[in-house]
Amino acid sequence: MANLSDSLTFRHGATVANRFVQPPMLTNSGEDGYATQDTINYYNAHSKSGGMVITEYMYVTENGGPALTWKRGREQLAAYDDKFVPQLKKVAQAIKHDGNKAIMQIAHTGREANFRAMNGKQVFAPTGLEDGLDFPFLPYKVHSLSNEQIKEIIAGFGAATKRAIDAGFDGVEIHGANHYLIQQFVSAYSNRRHDNWGGSIEKRMNFPLAVTKAVVDTVKQYAPDDFIVGYRISPEEIHGKNIGYTWHESTQLIDRLTKEFDLDYVHLSMPQFDAKPGDAMLLDTDKADSSFKDSTKTLAELFHPYLNGAKEIIVGGVNNREKAEAALSLADLVAVGRETIIDPLFAEKILNGEDDQVVDEITLDQVKKNHMTQGLIDNYSGPAAGIPLPGAANISSLHQGFGGWAEMKYPKNPEVK
Ligand SMILES: Cc1cc2nc3c(=O)[nH]c(=O)nc-3n(C[C@H](O)[C@H](O)[C@H](O)COP(=O)(O)O)c2cc1C
Repeated sequence: MANLSDSLTFRHGATVANRFVQPPMLTNSGEDGYATQDTINYYNAHSKSGGMVITEYMYVTENGGPALTWKRGREQLAAYDDKFVPQLKKVAQAIKHDGNKAIMQIAHTGREANFRAMNGKQVFAPTGLEDGLDFPFLPYKVHSLSNEQIKEIIAGFGAATKRAIDAGFDGVEIHGANHYLIQQFVSAYSNRRHDNWGGSIEKRMNFPLAVTKAVVDTVKQYAPDDFIVGYRISPEEIHGKNIGYTWHESTQLIDRLTKEFDLDYVHLSMPQFDAKPGDAMLLDTDKADSSFKDSTKTLAELFHPYLNGAKEIIVGGVNNREKAEAALSLADLVAVGRETIIDPLFAEKILNGEDDQVVDEITLDQVKKNHMTQGLIDNYSGPAAGIPLPGAANISSLHQGFGGWAEMKYPKNPEVK
């Protein structure tokens, strides 16, 4: 078995210094799509979070975000135009200044682009109102994408990859997880199309395949040979009776993606690194029926036969050496999310044997050291908190407002509500 301190070389030649990865995490620090000084300070403070640091998700076309945004200045970042490149360069430099790899996560958030609706703009998904699909859990309307728009989004993933190369990133991660647009296409629940992009599982794979082709073609044309391309996937989408897909289908997709495009890595998005079939995935609200618990193996292991030379990253709940080593026994690389928000030196401390120095709860003192963005502070210090952060109550005095998603106001406009 590998050690956490072992280096790893991806199939296209890039080497990371150790097995820790910082996974993508929204910092809610953008303004009009641009990274701000708050964003850059945060990434500067996180340059040692792992041999590889993956940025938060950036939207690749104008209609692809912002998601999970409650006001201007607390936004998701954008990569849909060359005007964003100078700030993206600063993000890449901040991450890389200690010699680690910087990966940019590229995404389209589809129906989750809530801040568009707040600004009176249309929100899009594979299937929406025009085709009779309503999302009862969303407080705004969702429209079906046209074939023309789908092609623009695919091209947008290619163009955003070019911007990542120009900004000096070492790679890109295609965000195919967590209920955003790519997952919405793969999901039988969200995708009710009958054209090239929907229907059978083969057709529901056409969008992720086309996106990955656009990314890989761009990399072949413009990037250094060792540029890293990864793909993030939620292994299952099961909400009670609403079944998007199971691991039997997601492994088929990964098999095709890794065979056809020589991906460097596959990143399984899970709330627990040792999750098994039928365990709820991130943001899945309803429990799966016991019939979905059809293997005693972990999802990490069930994906092994389908990686075809790609490395595997797993994530979820790692905050000490024991869990990091248990995760590394199942995969090639271990991502540590919330614990690196709290303590960006977590990986370094573990690698140096300074386990007793690890901070595992957020405090006022730690907020200064880790350069937590005001957006993350607002998200965690008030009533809103998404995925819980240990110690969040300690920082309530820093709260500058955000009462939670139920409080959000959407304009009464025929396009929106
Ligand atoms: C504040 C926050 C923001 C996140 N933003 C993203 C994101 O931009 N893209 C993504 O793929 N996952 C995102 N995630 C999920 C994390 O990458 C990770 O999978 C999850 O937090 C579980 O890992 P952990 O238990 O180590 O935190 C986010 C999680 C948190 C806590």
